[in-house]
Amino acid sequence: MTDWVAPHIKSLPFYVPGKPVEELEEELGIQEAVKLASNENPLGPSPRALAAMEKAMSQVHRYPEGGSVYLRRRLARIHGVDVEQILVGNGSNEILELIAKTFLRPGEEGIYAEQAFVVYPMIVQSLGGVKVGVPLQDFCHDLEAMADRITPNTRLIFIANPNNPTGTSVGARQMERFLDRVPPRALVVCDEAYFEYVERPDFPRSLEYLAQGHNLFVLRTFSKIYGLAGMRVGYLVGKRELVEYVNRVREPFNVNSLAQAAALGALEDTEHVARTLDVNSRGKKFLYALFGDLGLPFVPTEANFVLVQVDREKEIYEKLLREGVIVRPMSGWGLPGYLRVSIGLPAENERFARALRKIWRGE
Ligand SMILES: Cc1ncc(COP(=O)(O)O)c(C=O)c1O
Repeated sequence: MTDWVAPHIKSLPFYVPGKPVEELEEELGIQEAVKLASNENPLGPSPRALAAMEKAMSQVHRYPEGGSVYLRRRLARIHGVDVEQILVGNGSNEILELIAKTFLRPGEEGIYAEQAFVVYPMIVQSLGGVKVGVPLQDFCHDLEAMADRITPNTRLIFIANPNNPTGTSVGARQMERFLDRVPPRALVVCDEAYFEYVERPDFPRSLEYLAQGHNLFVLRTFSKIYGLAGMRVGYLVGKRELVEYVNRVREPFNVNSLAQAAALGALEDTEHVARTLDVNSRGKKFLYALFGDLGLPFVPTEANFVLVQVDREKEIYEKLLREGVIVRPMSGWGLPGYLRVSIGLPAENERFARALRKIWRGE
């Protein structure tokens, strides 16, 4: 029989997304279920993003601006870099893939933390690369251990900062010590999808490391704080000469015109961003208090979700579903016994709290 599929593709795991609200409602006949499972912005998109999309809608018979040039110009101004240093993708997920396609040859190594964004190992494997997973230490990236695993064959090193699903981050000193140990042939991908939520003052200034000459790609997204997960827009900032190669691999019209318009609109709405941060920080305190009250260990977060230990994670997840609350069980992410709960609107957090109290204590 013809063997159509290479072993490294056959053995690829499926990515399991958060359960959609509609699916749960249909399955269990529940009304108004709450989804706290995919780290989205619970406030929704900015009205400015919506208005920009509406305006762009009448032109969708045209191909989009292929190089996302207006959006790149705006981002370049915001970050104080050259337009050529920026590439926009169909979500930062696409950019992760493009980077790997551009730089990772079959048999070369990609290093990542074992309990981090599950897409990194999938991408490395799908390209015939060698996966090098390094365990977290105290829920944080262990940058020293990751640096110890660098070999002459290492091409890519992924760091989610803050990390998904733990919400932890590495600080500037740790990151700088790490970058000093990375040889010139390896590229560091700083995936900063939750950058805008970070509160710690010593968070690494990755764009400055780039300016200093480190081989770094900095990834950001419009899916989280900007509330545009469904539009799929992310971007990278890197060295001009390296970004140019990624651009060659990129599909010519990879970001659709509504997405580009939405992202530009969202960037104008600083009020929406501020409101999002306020909702997030109040929700964070609410969840900390809830978990503290129930005696559940949790990991303090720098992002818009909290990792909490419930031990019988599958059972609690299922029971929460029956109460109309969707969270994310973490055994598939290397953290059995844990749930990841995205921070929602006050009413959503309260709904989750009522459900969890009822399940946990029979209240
Ligand atoms: C660490 C991290 N990187 C990247 C992504 C992908 O984001 P995007 O929607 O921009 O593809 C996510 C999404 O959850 C994430 O948590």
